[in-house]
Amino acid sequence: MRHIFKEGTNSNKPVLLLLHGTGGDENGLLPLAEIVDPEASVLSVRGNVLENGMPRFFRRLAEGVFDEEDLVFRTNELNQFLEDAAKEYKFNRQNIVAIGYSNGANIAASLLFHYKDALKGAILHHPMVPRRGIELPDLKEAKVFIAAGTNDPICPQQESVELRELLEDAGASVEILWENHGHQLTMTEVQAAKQWYEKTMI
Ligand code: MLT
Repeated sequence: MRHIFKEGTNSNKPVLLLLHGTGGDENGLLPLAEIVDPEASVLSVRGNVLENGMPRFFRRLAEGVFDEEDLVFRTNELNQFLEDAAKEYKFNRQNIVAIGYSNGANIAASLLFHYKDALKGAILHHPMVPRRGIELPDLKEAKVFIAAGTNDPICPQQESVELRELLEDAGASVEILWENHGHQLTMTEVQAAKQWYEKTMI
């Protein structure tokens, strides 16, 4: 997968896995990693799917309606990429914290839904439930921060409520921050994510 890897100054810190929203790329979220943990290594990935020229991490049939077969395929592809990247760049595969926005948050949630040890933690900005009706792996070790909008027209409030329930039922610790700026990724939620990360992840 197309990506950027930036080695951090402290190899004990988690590796921050950046996953952009629809139409973004591997450059877009780099400033977030700099805010959340300037000492951490960064692996920023571009989604392999194109929708009208806009990169995404998996196909959708309509807005908010995911192509489940492609979602499963792409989740496996990303998980395998993480295995390979850990070997290539010599970082600890067990110490990855995802930061995802929108479509990127959804593939991060899908990693959690399908693989027990894919992520140590995840910061999900404006996520949805990636898939329903499946048994989740044991997520007792996973820590998740969700930032969501009460008035988000793309990722409705109920999606984050249900996502939290499903993750908690699988054992994950979940914190949620509500804002009312629609689908926007705001600086206040990035700062709240940083506080959560410092309290929970390091
Ligand atoms: C998705 O398709 O993953 C969500 O609807 C959010 C987005 O538009 O990226």
